[in-house]
Amino acid sequence: MDKLIIEGGRRLIGRVRVSGSKNAALSILVATLLVKGKTRLYNLPRIGDVLTMLEMLKRLGVKVNLEEEFAEIDATEIESYEAPYELVKKMRASFNVLGAILVRCGRARVPLPGGCDIGTRPVDFHLKGLQAMGAEIRMEHGYIEAYTDKLRGADIYLDFPSVGATCHLATAASLAEGTTYIRNAAEEPEIHDLFNFLNQAGADIKYIDSRVIEIQGVEKLRETSYEIMPDRMEAGTFMIAAAATEGDVLIEGIDPVYLKPVIEKLRETGCEVLEMENAVRVIGKRPIKPVNIVTLPHPGFPTDMQQPFTALLTIADGTSMVTETIYDSRFKYLSELARMGADVKVEGRTAVIKGVKELTGAPVVISDLRAGAALIIAALMARGVSEITGLENVDRGYENLEGKLASLGASIKRVSEESRECLV
Ligand code: UD1
Repeated sequence: MDKLIIEGGRRLIGRVRVSGSKNAALSILVATLLVKGKTRLYNLPRIGDVLTMLEMLKRLGVKVNLEEEFAEIDATEIESYEAPYELVKKMRASFNVLGAILVRCGRARVPLPGGCDIGTRPVDFHLKGLQAMGAEIRMEHGYIEAYTDKLRGADIYLDFPSVGATCHLATAASLAEGTTYIRNAAEEPEIHDLFNFLNQAGADIKYIDSRVIEIQGVEKLRETSYEIMPDRMEAGTFMIAAAATEGDVLIEGIDPVYLKPVIEKLRETGCEVLEMENAVRVIGKRPIKPVNIVTLPHPGFPTDMQQPFTALLTIADGTSMVTETIYDSRFKYLSELARMGADVKVEGRTAVIKGVKELTGAPVVISDLRAGAALIIAALMARGVSEITGLENVDRGYENLEGKLASLGASIKRVSEESRECLV
């Protein structure tokens, strides 16, 4: 089991380049299942979740060739219509292969993903949408079994603008017969990236109004090459880390427009944020002013930045309120922040964070991906040494996070239990 050892108190200074977007990569990899031929993807981040999705594709009989610069996915043949339980259990986004397998094979068997550490995460919108397109769906022994001769266009309304359901249904609808509408759809930048990819491969998908998508079904998708967009959550994490350490960091390879809510909230805390062409520079300032945040679907403040931003607010000069509206339980990491000296309490869906003078290093455990970003940021600004375990959660979504932080001057190193024992 690996640990991160972080000695806090160093200012992060320098420049860092953002990797490819995790969420865009995952939905695009699912969509490659619809291309009877080869897809070449550039800027694919080498992170745990992407490797899990590539493994999923392989287990479905798809050929995957991972080169240094790109990945080539050859989905000419799909040999299995069943998604393995161990992969869907590991990563919820892999459930979204259901629609694509169904389109390609006429039937699909995919396990239900279950809950996770940030709350219950049902898939009812996904299933209702596929049913509206004519799929027959049964639930048996924890698996969804779906059948269809051919999906047909439908008018679908989502109760909530779910990112996953929007991607899943739009992808399946791109090869349906006729026109599909998805209303109250999500509009995160990663969804635009998926649609750009699908359209480049011959699909016909567009937003015709705010939160309304029209998909004209096409006969088939063609082979294509595509470069995945940069990861705005990784960029946001470095921005907050720069603010937290009173640093000065230039985050390169990201359009600031994707990060507007984070930029505005950082400015409210008193930090200086410079928006440039394809880069953002954050200059941390003290004192950190308290701010209130409410997470919302895009273009609101992203839930994935709630945890890292809260870490910053633990040392604000006053009380901040952070309200989580997307997930019902994304505050578990607060008890770990409290172990580092943060003064936090949860009232319903709101975390009340009373700023303290400083955090102190402590052993802490990461419970989910963005909780990991929060605890690492807390450790970077804390006095003393923190030992952080549960790194597999961070490895799911950040490419070489400790290497990038070390290049900015952080005192951070990863040790395995064995090598630590050798040191002692
Ligand atoms: C995606 C992102 C994740 C981000 C989240 C919200 C990926 C791989 N992950 O997750 O990083 O935090 O969007 O921006 O892209 N819901 C239902 N029924 C459904 C589907 C969703 O009730 O059928 C609810 C969920 O429980 C949650 C809310 O809708 O409360 C939003 O979830 P959703 O947007 O679907 O999140 P994901 O696609 O899983």
